[in-house]
Amino acid sequence: MEWAMSLLLNNPSVLKKAHGEIEKYVGHDRRVEESDMCNLPYLDCIIKETMRMLPPAPLFPHESSNDCMVGGYHVPKGTMLLVNVWAIHNDPNIWGDPKKFRPERFEGLEGYRDGFKLMPFGFGRRGCPGEDMAMRLVRLALGSLIQCFEWERTSESEVDMSEGTEGLNMSKAISLVAICHPRPTMLNLLSQL
Ligand code: HEM
Repeated sequence: MEWAMSLLLNNPSVLKKAHGEIEKYVGHDRRVEESDMCNLPYLDCIIKETMRMLPPAPLFPHESSNDCMVGGYHVPKGTMLLVNVWAIHNDPNIWGDPKKFRPERFEGLEGYRDGFKLMPFGFGRRGCPGEDMAMRLVRLALGSLIQCFEWERTSESEVDMSEGTEGLNMSKAISLVAICHPRPTMLNLLSQL
């Protein structure tokens, strides 16, 4: 959520397009709901693109329970394997211009994996069982923030996008601070909450 908001603040045209989509399909007489999500594909593209560039779990460990062959390599039982999903998501041989925040690259894509190029939740039997819940929550929360508020950076300069080094999650080195105002069109609804 924090990375997505940071990227949106550094890319106001994407934020404007996302708001336009919500305004078109949901309007401003009610808040976005789970059932709206199928009509908000651009919001979904923003979340996918954020998770591509900055996967919340960039490295995740697996251990082979038996001897096996993978891609022609013999992997002995008990081998620790770290899946470097950050490297896959930012590989220029897989993604054109990987450093560029371009949610449009996911337009028309069904699902998340895109041929195992995009896998922020891992995959297979040990894939994240919370994927569906996480995606629902992020869509709803991000959609509400975009629908209800106008967002601004605290200064002319771009939001700092340095990655933190603590922990196993993809944290921000400097927490996001932003200015928000209720959208005038949403004031009526927000004042009733
Ligand atoms: C944006 C949010 C989340 C991301 C990016 C994420 C990502 C991941 C990843 C990459 C793995 C390892 C997959 C693998 O080893 O192949 C994982 C495992 C797991 N996740 Fe999540 N997760 C998220 C949210 C959640 C939530 C909301 C829950 C529970 C409500 C959850 C529960 C779990 C559990 C229990 C595992 C271990 C599964 C196993 O080892 O069998 N996750 N998650």
